[in-house]
Order: sequence, then structure tokens, then C-alpha cells
Amino acid sequence: MKILLFGAMGQLGTELQDTMSTLGKVAAYDIHNLNLEHTGVLKETIRLYRPDVIVNASAYTAVDQAEREKEKAFHVNGEIPGLLAEETAKLNAILIHYSTDYVFDGSKGAPYVETDVPHPLGAYGSSKLAGEEAVRAGKADYLILRTSWVYSRSRSSFVTKVLEWSRKQDVMNVVDDQVSNPTWARRLAIVTARLLEMDPDFLRERRGLYHVVGNGYASRLDWARKILELDPNKNEQKVREILPARTSDFPTPAQRPLFSALDCSLFQSTFGIPLPRWEDDLQLAMTV
Ligand SMILES: NC(=O)c1ccc[n+]([C@@H]2O[C@H](COP(=O)([O-])OP(=O)(O)OC[C@H]3O[C@@H](n4cnc5c(N)ncnc54)[C@H](OP(=O)(O)O)[C@@H]3O)[C@@H](O)[C@H]2O)c1
Repeated sequence: MKILLFGAMGQLGTELQDTMSTLGKVAAYDIHNLNLEHTGVLKETIRLYRPDVIVNASAYTAVDQAEREKEKAFHVNGEIPGLLAEETAKLNAILIHYSTDYVFDGSKGAPYVETDVPHPLGAYGSSKLAGEEAVRAGKADYLILRTSWVYSRSRSSFVTKVLEWSRKQDVMNVVDDQVSNPTWARRLAIVTARLLEMDPDFLRERRGLYHVVGNGYASRLDWARKILELDPNKNEQKVREILPARTSDFPTPAQRPLFSALDCSLFQSTFGIPLPRWEDDLQLAMTV
């Protein structure tokens, strides 16, 4: 199997390079050797390599900055996935693309399912929704995996930040009114590899959009507390107290959904791939 990976140096892309390495020949690109905004080069790269699968882990993920750089965010997140889908269809390949819980406004009050109507609150969520729509509108066989609160230990993430703050601050204030599913980038990469081990026709028949996250959900405060509890170098922590705060205490350019947990029942019943509880994956992530 020939796989073309974009976004190879991101949180997810880095893990995908590992988990997909046993599946076949992986050509991995990141912004430093292929900026997806250079669409001519992008198309030529795809046409020359002729992949069986395109995995797009690249994205403009700077949620606040996207409010100032809407055009760029929409180009990378909204338009380029459509172009990838077009090229995928021409080659009769399969496209794996990722999206976000930020397509929702958080007003449902219960975990979102795939049929819930999206209503993004900011430019990042809107641009990612445009990308989903562009992929779905084309003729490609695709799987869009919508995920949430992705973290890794090797790239800057909420987990690395909490550990960093805990070494510097006596008291930490963390919001308790944002709730979603902490998702280990490696888990998402393992799940992707397991999908690609399946019969391609089985995947083609099940083309569509699926929610894939760490099982269960938590507030950012719960998540931060768990990170500190599972910290393998607890003795380095300076923090004595961790206090609940409100999102409104930390004004940001982009508004975030408050309750954006995703329900993964459809994914699990369709593909039979288990999604461990977020706490169990966090525990593993803290030991590797
Ligand atoms: N992180 C989260 O909490 C989260 C939550 C829900 C969904 N997701 C989705 O999950 C997927 C993976 O996210 P992630 O956390 O791995 O993101 P990430 O760490 O920010 O990785 C994205 C990668 O894409 C690259 N990139 C950006 N613009 C590009 C361009 N024009 N051409 C080529 N590469 C470009 C980035 O390079 P630079 O770093 O140099 O810009 C980065 O290496 C994305 O689709 C994201 O929207 C993420």
C-alpha cells in the first residue's frame, strides 16, 4: 500500500508516521517540504506518487489566530481538503481526513452524534466545517474522523502546558466550564492504522463522517488534575493548589464551545475498534 501523509510533523502526523510505517510505503510531507497552499506542487506530488491512501493530518490549528487570518484558515482547512478529495477520486484512492468538535456551538448539553447540525462559533471551526463539506461534496471515498482535545507529549499541547505551569506556579487556575474528550494523538494514529489494515472495499462501503475521541469526557479542570496526579515526576511540581475558573475569566479572540463532547458509538459499532477511556490513555501517555 502506498500512503501519502500530510501534516507529518504535527501532533497527530508524528504519531501516524510510526503507526502507519508497517502498512506499506509512506511518503510523509510537512509544511517545510510541501506547503499545501502551493496547490500546483501539491497536485503534482499526488499525481506523481499515485497513492492508494491520502492521510491529511495537516491543518491550520491556531484557533485564536484564525480570527485574524480567516482567509488563510479557510484556504488550508476549507479549500485544500476539497482539492485532496478531487485528487483522491481521480486516483480511485481513499482519503482520511480529520475534523474537530469546534464545528459545534456546545449548546446541546449532551455528547454530539454525527447527525447533529454543526454551528461553529469561530473562524477555525467554520473553516474546518467548510473542509468537511468540501470532502463530502466530492466523489472520493473518504473517512472524516472528527476528534477533540488532541494532545501529545512530544509537541506543545494542554498536557505539556499543564506540566510546565505546575513547575512554575504555586496556584493554577483552570476552567471547569469547558467540557470535551481528551484524545491522545497516538490513539488516533493507532485507530487510523487499524482502519487502513481493513479491506479497502469494506472502508469504501462505509465512507463517511465518524466521531473518534478518548472515551468519556471531562472538564479542563478534571483533565488538569488527572495530568498532575499521573505526572511521573511529581516531585518537580511546585503547584500547591488548582482552582476552578470560568472561561470568561480568560478572554480570547475566539469563542470556544463549552460542551463539545463527541459520541463515538457509530464509529465503534461500524468498525469494531475499541476506544479506551481517556483516563487510561492519559495514564499510558504519561509513561511513554
Ligand atoms: N489539536 C487539537 O486539539 C485538535 C482538536 C480537534 C481536532 N483536531 C484536528 O486534528 C488534526 C490534527 O491536529 P494536530 O493537533 O495534530 O495539529 P497540529 O499539531 O497543529 O499539526 C498540524 C500540522 O499541519 C501543518 N500545516 C499547517 N498549515 C500547513 C500547510 N499550509 N501546508 C502543510 N502543512 C501545514 C502544521 O505545520 P506548522 O505547525 O508549522 O503550522 C502542523 O505540522 C487536524 O485536522 C485538527 O484540525 C485537532
